[in-house]
Amino acid sequence: MADLHDRWVAERRNEHYYKLAKKLNYRSRASFKLIQIDNRFGIFKSGDAVVDLGACPGGWLQVAQERTWPNGRVVGVDLRYIKPLEGVETFIGDITEDATMIELLRRFGGQADVVLSDMAPNITGHYSMDHARSINLCMFAVDVCDRILKKEGKLVMKVFMGDMFDSLKKELEARFQSVKVHSPDASRDTSSEVYVICQGFYAKNRVKLRKPVVEEKKPDFKPKGDFF
Ligand SMILES: C[S@@+](CC[C@H](N)C(=O)[O-])C[C@H]1O[C@@H](n2cnc3c(N)ncnc32)[C@H](O)[C@@H]1O
Repeated sequence: MADLHDRWVAERRNEHYYKLAKKLNYRSRASFKLIQIDNRFGIFKSGDAVVDLGACPGGWLQVAQERTWPNGRVVGVDLRYIKPLEGVETFIGDITEDATMIELLRRFGGQADVVLSDMAPNITGHYSMDHARSINLCMFAVDVCDRILKKEGKLVMKVFMGDMFDSLKKELEARFQSVKVHSPDASRDTSSEVYVICQGFYAKNRVKLRKPVVEEKKPDFKPKGDFF
């Protein structure tokens, strides 16, 4: 009975944020999750440079752009095409692939003040598999931080809760002064989704971008048999 009631409440909440997103011209109701996180934790400053991983359809991009206005810089990447958003740079890519990481760093140029990740795997409904895939995506977001996030920078990242969460939290605590787990009102639709709010990046595990591998050209010269 409690379960049915919880589902009813969650559906009403989703509907509320869905309608609000339409009314305020946000591309997704996920925008309100980031708005609520920012209102509570003070993530953005005017002029910040922001990277958004798993950014489609662009609700978070809109919020990041508004809240870093007027001199902010926002770059988003997703497996899926993101409809253009004026003043925001986006491209298609899989963050688990080296080529995407290289492209992200090439486009972004300098360092980021904030890394966002709302990445979610395709849901199989198999709890532990979805959790493991979510943790895997989170580790790629951490890798992006190691390459691109400024000292003192911030990371806001979605994770599906489960037994590997503690190891992820340890990785985050080794890199950030503060790591908080939070569930904004707009996100209380699935039981396992939470956000980790990480602030005060130490930047001590800085990973340099690997140079793209250029295949060594073999000389055309073939030694004649009588050399040997
Ligand atoms: C919940 S949606 C993001 C919603 C977005 N924050 C917004 O406000 O509109 C999760 C996104 O993560 C993306 N994603 C999942 N795995 C990814 C990967 N390996 N690389 C890039 N994007 C990924 C999905 O394609 C999906 O669009």
